[in-house]
Amino acid sequence: MHGLAIDAPSALAEEATLAALLRCCVREVAGPRGLVWPAPPYLLLRVADRLLRARTYGGAALRFDGPLERLQDGAWRPLTTDELVGLVEADLQGHNAEFADQVAASKEAVAAILRARAAAEPPADPWLASEQALVYGHPFHPSPKARGGDGWLRYAPETHAEFPVQLLGVREDVLAEEGDVSALDGMGRAPDGYRLLPAHPWQLDLLRPAFGAELIDLGPGPVVSPTSSVRTVYAPDSAVCLKFSLNVRITNCVRKNAWYELAGAVELSSRLKPIFAEISAKHPATRWLPEPGYRSAALGTHLHEGLGVIVRQSPWAACAPGVTPVLAGALALDAQAREPLAWWSAYVSAVALPVVELYFAHGVVLEPHLQNVLVGQDAAGLPAQAVFRDLEGTKLVAGRHDLDGLHPEVARALTYDAERGWTRVVYCLLVNHLTEIAAAVAGHDGGLLRALWRIARDLLAKLAADLGWPLPLSDLLAGAPLPAKANLGVRWARAADRTAGYVPIANPLA
Ligand SMILES: Nc1ncnc2c1ncn2[C@@H]1O[C@H](COP(=O)(O)OP(=O)(O)OP(=O)(O)O)[C@@H](O)[C@H]1O
Ligand SMILES: [Mg+2]
Repeated sequence: MHGLAIDAPSALAEEATLAALLRCCVREVAGPRGLVWPAPPYLLLRVADRLLRARTYGGAALRFDGPLERLQDGAWRPLTTDELVGLVEADLQGHNAEFADQVAASKEAVAAILRARAAAEPPADPWLASEQALVYGHPFHPSPKARGGDGWLRYAPETHAEFPVQLLGVREDVLAEEGDVSALDGMGRAPDGYRLLPAHPWQLDLLRPAFGAELIDLGPGPVVSPTSSVRTVYAPDSAVCLKFSLNVRITNCVRKNAWYELAGAVELSSRLKPIFAEISAKHPATRWLPEPGYRSAALGTHLHEGLGVIVRQSPWAACAPGVTPVLAGALALDAQAREPLAWWSAYVSAVALPVVELYFAHGVVLEPHLQNVLVGQDAAGLPAQAVFRDLEGTKLVAGRHDLDGLHPEVARALTYDAERGWTRVVYCLLVNHLTEIAAAVAGHDGGLLRALWRIARDLLAKLAADLGWPLPLSDLLAGAPLPAKANLGVRWARAADRTAGYVPIANPLA
């Protein structure tokens, strides 16, 4: 039967790629123009004058049942990714010669991941397994798995890759570091006068630094496992995560630690310590992952940034004994909520309340999207803790913190104005995160989905009362539209992720 068997990975990759692109079209292309019509059980939309339809459930998460279709010559026919890419290209202003290739590359990557994953052994560590579960990636991105360069499969979390970091030695007079990086010194032995700098082997291939007296190659070091962001790895023997630079575009960004972000992470780690202590006193489920230090080589900006590594605490160290951290993004795929109302209530209390309180009471903007939050589950599987991570996306609200004494570039990079910060919080927490978890918990039960949002509303309203009904939170609870990040728009414009706009979507809290 050679050649006749359906290649399941290719079919699944096509299905997932088409679904993600259609979600972007509903949200960013047809939605803002009023060209989306609910016609239960279908959702109809028009893109480039073509009528499309899909059976949907899960509210704003837009989960699909059955085929996605286009109307042609009086009949509904199956829609393909290539056709939808053509419609998007015809509909959007301007021209982007890379777009179709990026979508196709992402689809190919998903198929390659599925093939390799079928033959791979998942890790015994349940947290790590959850980090490696995001096979299809961001559900509202046109090319969620596009990854630059060759050989990426060797370093892919979804295929349960494991590999040794490469140990470099940096001569002490050209060492660049701040904060506590003692975890790095335990990863091997450096000759006298040198300090250890672990490097991601993929990044070394990309950077090809010149070795000499100042920078030496000490060979392979401890074996590590990639987490969901690809460039952050877990080093189990040292009980830390290492956040590397990777000069590769992963979704919207080339994943390079800028020098001011290296310094900013350490700065935030010390500033947030007392703030999180206060937050945990009021919301005892709150945990976070400090990034106590970074190390690099002061051999010009290119290498300083390219080799810069941030040390991050392991989530196991953040959780109480008996509590298992699980990536929120994995729960969005399979929530396993045996008692949905109680589970959701615990989830929203643990995840949402501290985020909102941090914004209003402390002027701190977390980036609590599905990939930046771990939920600690107790022995019964109930959400008992929420662990927030990724200080690169964590910002301080302008005017609420004394940033005198910081390098102006460091201060600039860790500051948002109040409005931008609130938009970011609402997008990450509600649109990116809770919408997906609610859809996973409710499945096809629309009544349950509405009940979940009533619970979220009541919990947030109680906090709002406590905080004196701050205006943006009151607006939100009164039903102001939610801001959804325009991932298709920013890719189409070939713009930097930080310039991404937002499109308004219906608010399920009202
Ligand atoms: N729902 C989601 N929301 C945001 N990112 C997602 C989602 N699903 C998958 N991802 C992926 O997770 C990564 C998130 O990027 P982010 O900038 O938070 O991570 P990072 O800063 O590179 O690393 P780390 O999170 O370890 O600090 C991207 O690769 C993105 O494609
Ligand atoms: Mg992240």
